[in-house]
Amino acid sequence: MMKVLIATDKPFAPDAVKGIRAVVEKAGHELVLLEKYTEKSQLIDAVKTVDAVIIRSDIIDAEVLSAANHLKIVVRAGAGYDNVDLDAATAKNVCVMNTPGQNANAVAELVLCMMVYAVRNFFDGSSGSELLGKKLGLHAYGNVGRNVARIAAGFGMEVYAYDPFLPDDVIEKDGVKAVKSVEELYSSCPFISLHIPATSETKQSINKALLSKMPKKAVLINTARKEIIHEPEIAELMQERADFKYLTDIMPGNHAEMQEKFPGRYFSTPKKMGAQTAEANNNAGIAAANQIVDFFKTGNQKFRVNK
Ligand code: 3PG
Repeated sequence: MMKVLIATDKPFAPDAVKGIRAVVEKAGHELVLLEKYTEKSQLIDAVKTVDAVIIRSDIIDAEVLSAANHLKIVVRAGAGYDNVDLDAATAKNVCVMNTPGQNANAVAELVLCMMVYAVRNFFDGSSGSELLGKKLGLHAYGNVGRNVARIAAGFGMEVYAYDPFLPDDVIEKDGVKAVKSVEELYSSCPFISLHIPATSETKQSINKALLSKMPKKAVLINTARKEIIHEPEIAELMQERADFKYLTDIMPGNHAEMQEKFPGRYFSTPKKMGAQTAEANNNAGIAAANQIVDFFKTGNQKFRVNK
């Protein structure tokens, strides 16, 4: 019997926890729950005796890993795993996985919702505009990008994508136009939705030089990561361009300044909520539980992300 911990600062929906418990207990393992913890020390205490951990954006760094002497696997119930120190996990022989695609539709629905909110002038009662016939650029075409493209097509948008890791035909078979460079994407599309991970190459890469290329009445949507934005430069750009709107699901460091300077053009959710739906919690949480059960039973490491 293995001990499986759910450690979520931002908890799953209660039904998702029930579903995870059912999978874990059916396989003969024990489930331990740590939700809404406020101190890192609580996480450190909780990992000491467990064999597996299911997390969301919770930070699993070298200090947490060094306390986890029985830990064999960490599953990030979601897509991005920049919150896990992969090298430290590898050094401790801990397998790290994600659950790609499981929360993608939820995030994509929020993207379209934010675009509507932007073009309807933050629902302030004034006459706005429509998405029909407008050009949307997807910066990366992974699971979320694909779902955004599918929904945007229903709105009648013209969808473009830039993804250097995918051949054009994979993008174009979905009726999306593949563009050759990031500059071409930004200069062609007044709507841009970001779907790149936070890596050493992408950090602060969404900067003034790139955003300045966007056509008039630009709308930038960020449901990806805070770190990819050059925060001081986006503030500078919005100061210069009264037609530029920025809506984000990850509150920036300069939120107070942005809110004060750009009312009606800047919006941030109070807490990242792209994946905060019952469906996404169920899909990602139960996938994580199944991956853990399978890992212990058969050694399956299909979704492993560390070497
Ligand atoms: C992800 O990487 O899957 C999303 O950013 C969702 O993150 P969350 O589980 O912390 O809401």
